[in-house]
Amino acid sequence: MFDFEYFAPTRVIFGRSAEERTGALLRELGVSRVLIHYGGGSAVKSGLLGRVTASLDEAGIAHASLGGVVPNPRVSKVREGARLALQFGAELILAVGGGSVIDSSKAIGYAAAEPEHDVWEIYDRKRAPKACLPVACVLTIAAAGSEMSNSSVITNEETGEKRGCRSNLCRPRLAIMNPELTASLPPYQTAAGCTDILMHTLERYFTQGGNMELTDQIAEGLMRTVLKSALILRDDPSNYDARAEVMWASSLSHNDLTGLGADGMDFVSHGMEHELGGMFDVTHGAGLSAVWPAWARYVYKNCLPRFVKFAVNVMDIQPQVSDEATALAGIAALEDFFRSIHMPVTLRELGVEPTEEQILAMAASFAKSSGGKKGTAKVLYEADMAAIYRMAL
Ligand code: NZQ
Ligand code: ZN
Repeated sequence: MFDFEYFAPTRVIFGRSAEERTGALLRELGVSRVLIHYGGGSAVKSGLLGRVTASLDEAGIAHASLGGVVPNPRVSKVREGARLALQFGAELILAVGGGSVIDSSKAIGYAAAEPEHDVWEIYDRKRAPKACLPVACVLTIAAAGSEMSNSSVITNEETGEKRGCRSNLCRPRLAIMNPELTASLPPYQTAAGCTDILMHTLERYFTQGGNMELTDQIAEGLMRTVLKSALILRDDPSNYDARAEVMWASSLSHNDLTGLGADGMDFVSHGMEHELGGMFDVTHGAGLSAVWPAWARYVYKNCLPRFVKFAVNVMDIQPQVSDEATALAGIAALEDFFRSIHMPVTLRELGVEPTEEQILAMAASFAKSSGGKKGTAKVLYEADMAAIYRMAL
């Protein structure tokens, strides 16, 4: 097992009606003025926003609000939010929504804490953030894991670039998670969320190893739970227990727990999806399932013991005539699972058909943003990334 540091400072309040405690919980943090940030309307329509503001009023917390965050959240909205946060004197950004809203809130936190700089510079790796206004969230979709992660992902709509920034400064102080809130999700978003949760675990699992028995068993148990729960939710979207399982899995899949002691994280599929998201504005989880099978078949020989372990321990594959055959059966089984929850397994199924020029542009952009190479299962360079996009067509 390799040495590690684990930092998971988020206070989690999990369960039915949890959002009604928002005001009192923020009071405990000593906060008296907040900017509420939300998305395209689901939180208004469901009445959630009304319940949250009532709870803030009851606790005597002043609030301003800004909605309109879109999936693949835009830097222009972040700049608008930072202006409002500063004008209002917000002491905390309260995200009411999913990964996009939480990420936009984290970025507003960065922008408002260092208003003398343009916030895009930190996503463009021109500088590292030095401060961030505190962030809290009321989560409405189990997917990105932003509620406990150190990451935020923002899209610059002027350049078509989607870029992430990792820093412990932005980890939410408080994550309020009521699984009931996710029952109103469209089935496609539920499935895309489950895919993203699996992928956060897989990105940490496919490494060159480090003899992490406990970490591996946590990761495998998490993946088996999500595989099972996603099928339950496909057939019974209002199943509370399955909603609760995937919501908790969302947080644990991306708060670093499932990769402790490994020799790094792969995150190539994520990098490839970020390019697709920037260029074609696709749904994150669906973009991941569309590239993963091609990535897996491209790299598996380089990481064979882990692919065999995944096939046997997670996908229930009986050992085949060779390790290669077992690994390939495991990849095919996950691909079949994605199909079964109506997730795309190719770019065409995702609804995009990049030209050769676009493939080369995505590969070049990915290589540039990752310093020329990326991956722990297999180190990949620009030409490999282009080859995987072609395989994924
Ligand atoms: O905007 P509204 O109207 O709320 O609709 C949203 C949106 O259209 C809808 N939705 C959310 N909760 C709902 C609901 N509809 C009905 N009922 C509810 N309870 O779902 C749609 C998707 O929401 P979004 O926030 O975009 O989903 P997700 O949580 O998957 O976030 C995706 C973003 O997170 C980034 C992705 O790249 C993408 O930009 N990621 C962030 C990470 C992080 N910060 O750690 C890690 C991830 O790997 C990922 O990259
Ligand atoms: Zn993700």
